Amino acid sequence: ALHKEAKEVSFQSDGPFGTYDRAQLQRGFKVYREVCSACHSLHQVAFRDLAALGFTQAEIKAIAKTNEQPTIDEKTGEPAMRPGLPSDKFYGPYANEVAARAANNNALPPDLSLMTKAREHGNRYVYSLLTGYANAPAGWKVPDGLNYNPYFKSINIAMPAPLASEGQVEYTDGTKPTVDQMAKDVAAFLTWTAEPKLVERHRTGFGAVIFLLIMTGLGYLSYRRVWAEIK
Ligand code: HEM
Repeated sequence: ALHKEAKEVSFQSDGPFGTYDRAQLQRGFKVYREVCSACHSLHQVAFRDLAALGFTQAEIKAIAKTNEQPTIDEKTGEPAMRPGLPSDKFYGPYANEVAARAANNNALPPDLSLMTKAREHGNRYVYSLLTGYANAPAGWKVPDGLNYNPYFKSINIAMPAPLASEGQVEYTDGTKPTVDQMAKDVAAFLTWTAEPKLVERHRTGFGAVIFLLIMTGLGYLSYRRVWAEIK
C-alpha cells in the first residue's frame, strides 16, 4: 500500500481482557460532540446509549435536545426539524449527501459509528489519521482543497486536520487536552460506538472458557472411573 501503517498505540479496550476507561470515553464523546459532529453523524448510536458512559437521564435529555431531528410538520405537512429525544440517534449536520458534499469540497464525511470496525487497525487508525497531518514532502502534489495525511488510503484527504491545537476541547477531569490526548480519547470513544458490548463479550468468553475447562476436568475424571476395571 502507498499509505503508512497505523501507529503503534494501545488502548485499554485491546486484547481479550480489554475494558473501557469510562473517563476516557466521556472525554472522547466531548471531542466528538464539540469537533467531529460539525461534519460527521453517528447514526447507530442513540442518546440513551450514553447511560453506559455514566450520563444521567437528565443529562441525556439535555444532550438529545440540542440535536435537531428531521420530521414532518403536522400542520403544514412539510419537512421540518424538531429537538431530539433520548430514543433518537445522533443526526448529522447535513440534510442529505448533496448538501454534505457541497460543504466538503465534494467529499463525503462518513458516519463514524462503525469506523473503527470498517478500517484495518480500527482505533489505532483513527488515532493515526487524526495525528498524521503533515507538510507534504517536496515533489508530492496535493490538489487544491485537499490535505496531506500519509495514513489516509489515498494520502490526500478532504478532511482538514480537525484537532489542531492543545486545549481545543476543555477537559473537566484534569486530563491535559493535548492534540495527542484528544485524538486518543475520540478513537477510544469510536471504539465504544462500534462495539458497546465489548466488555460483556469478553466476560462471557472468559466464563465460557472456564466452563469448558471444568467440563474437561470432569470428563477426564469420569473417563478414569468408567474404564478403571478394564485392564
Ligand atoms: C473523513 C474522523 C472531524 C470532514 C473522516 C474519516 C474519519 C474521520 C475516521 C474517514 C477516513 C477514511 O475514509 O478512512 C473524524 C474525527 C473528527 C473529524 C474523529 C473529529 C475529531 C471532521 C470535521 C470535518 C470532517 C470537523 C469537516 C470540517 C471529513 C470529510 C471526510 C472525513 C470531508 C472525507 C475525506 C475524504 O474522503 O477525502 N473523518 N473527522 N471531519 N472527514 Fe472527518
